[in-house]
Amino acid sequence: NSSIKQKRWDSISKMDNCITIDGPGGSGKGTVAKLLAAKLGWNILDSGALYRLIALISENIKETDPDSIGIELKDKNIFFKLKGDQYHLIFDGKDITDTIRREEIGIKASDLAHNQNIRDLIKDTQRSFYDPNIGLIADGRDMGSVVFPEAKIKIYLDASIEERAKRRQIQLKEKGMEVNMRNLISSLEDRDLKDKNRDVSPLLIPEGAKVIDSTNLSIDEVVNKIMDLI
Ligand code: C5P
Repeated sequence: NSSIKQKRWDSISKMDNCITIDGPGGSGKGTVAKLLAAKLGWNILDSGALYRLIALISENIKETDPDSIGIELKDKNIFFKLKGDQYHLIFDGKDITDTIRREEIGIKASDLAHNQNIRDLIKDTQRSFYDPNIGLIADGRDMGSVVFPEAKIKIYLDASIEERAKRRQIQLKEKGMEVNMRNLISSLEDRDLKDKNRDVSPLLIPEGAKVIDSTNLSIDEVVNKIMDLI
C-alpha cells in the first residue's frame, strides 16, 4: 500500500499531467492551450489573464502597491469557465473577460508584472489551479521556469512579430475592437522587450522546454506536435 502511495506521490511531484506553454504575446499559447485542454480533459490556467486582473483591480482602486491589490483579491473566487469555445475569467462572480482584453490593460499588466511582490502575491493562486487528479495546461511567460518547474512537458511557443500582430488584430476585431497594425506591432515589441529584459521572472526558454515556431504552422499542426510529445 505504501509503495503505491509513494508511486502516486512521485508522479504527482513530477507533475506528469502538467503542460506549460510559455512565449510572447500572440504566439498562439491561448488557442493551443484551449485545444489541448479539450482533447485531454484537463484544466486550464491563463496566467496572463491573472496579471490582467491585477491591472484591472489596480486601475479600479487607483493603487499599484501589492498590499492594496492583495486586499482586493483576498478570499475572492477566481476561475476560468468555458463559454462557447472561449474560456472566460470569472472574478468574484463577475465575467471580466472583455474588460481585461483591452490593450491598455495588457500594457498595465506588463508594467505590474515587473514587481516581484506582485508575482509572489499570485504564485500560490496560480499553483492552486493544478489538480493532480485532472491535469493542467498552464500558459504564460514563466510557467515552466518559475511557477511549475516540475511540469513534465514544457513548451516555448514563438512566432514572428508580424504574424503575432496579425493574430492579435483578428482577436481584437472579433471583440469589436479596431486597432491600427503599426500601433499593434510597436505595442507588442515594447511588451516583448519589457518581458524579456526584466529582472524578475523574465520571459525565457525554460530548461528542458521544446521550442516550437508557429509562424508557418496551423493551430492543428502545433497541437499535434505537442500531442506527439505526450
Ligand atoms: O499573455 P497576456 O498578454 O494576457 O499577458 C499580459 C502581461 O502579463 C504580459 O505582457 C506579461 O508582462 C505578464 N505576464 C507575466 N507572466 C505570466 C503571464 C503574463 O509576466 N506568466
